[in-house]
Amino acid sequence: MAETRFTVNGEERAVETDPSTPLLWVLREQLKLTGTKFGCGIAQCGACTVHLDGMPVRSCSTPLIAAEGAEITTIEGVSAEDGTQHKVQAAWIEHQVPQCGYCQSGQIMSAVALLRDNPNPSDADIDAAMRGNICRCGAYGRIRAAIKSAASAQGN
Ligand code: FES
Ligand code: FES
Repeated sequence: MAETRFTVNGEERAVETDPSTPLLWVLREQLKLTGTKFGCGIAQCGACTVHLDGMPVRSCSTPLIAAEGAEITTIEGVSAEDGTQHKVQAAWIEHQVPQCGYCQSGQIMSAVALLRDNPNPSDADIDAAMRGNICRCGAYGRIRAAIKSAASAQGN
């Protein structure tokens, strides 16, 4: 079985698994990083969003082979090494964004990527960037407010 090497949250990892296995399965089942969620499995809901070389991707529909040599960041790697929350996480708490919470890892990963590329997004920018992240609890208003709050905060 092929070995795939990559970095997850700053740690080098190697897994021996069929390279066509969805990255989500490897993260959750082999590396026990269960913060990333399985929703639809067909790249439609965003619950499984992680960063691959800084880009938000749907890990349910990303084959392991795409991670070869790449840097993966999951929700577990968003905080600073000393445990300081990312400003998006802090804003999420400030605005009490989650309801059931199931979609929230993916929402935060998309919001972190948005603010890195666009530190001062408009409502339209937020809607466009977050369109692929579905929240069946309808927390969209709080998500938008938290992103605006994070955008006005200093730091990472
Ligand atoms: S579980 Fe991957 S997009 Fe829905
Ligand atoms: S908080 Fe329940 S699905 Fe988003």
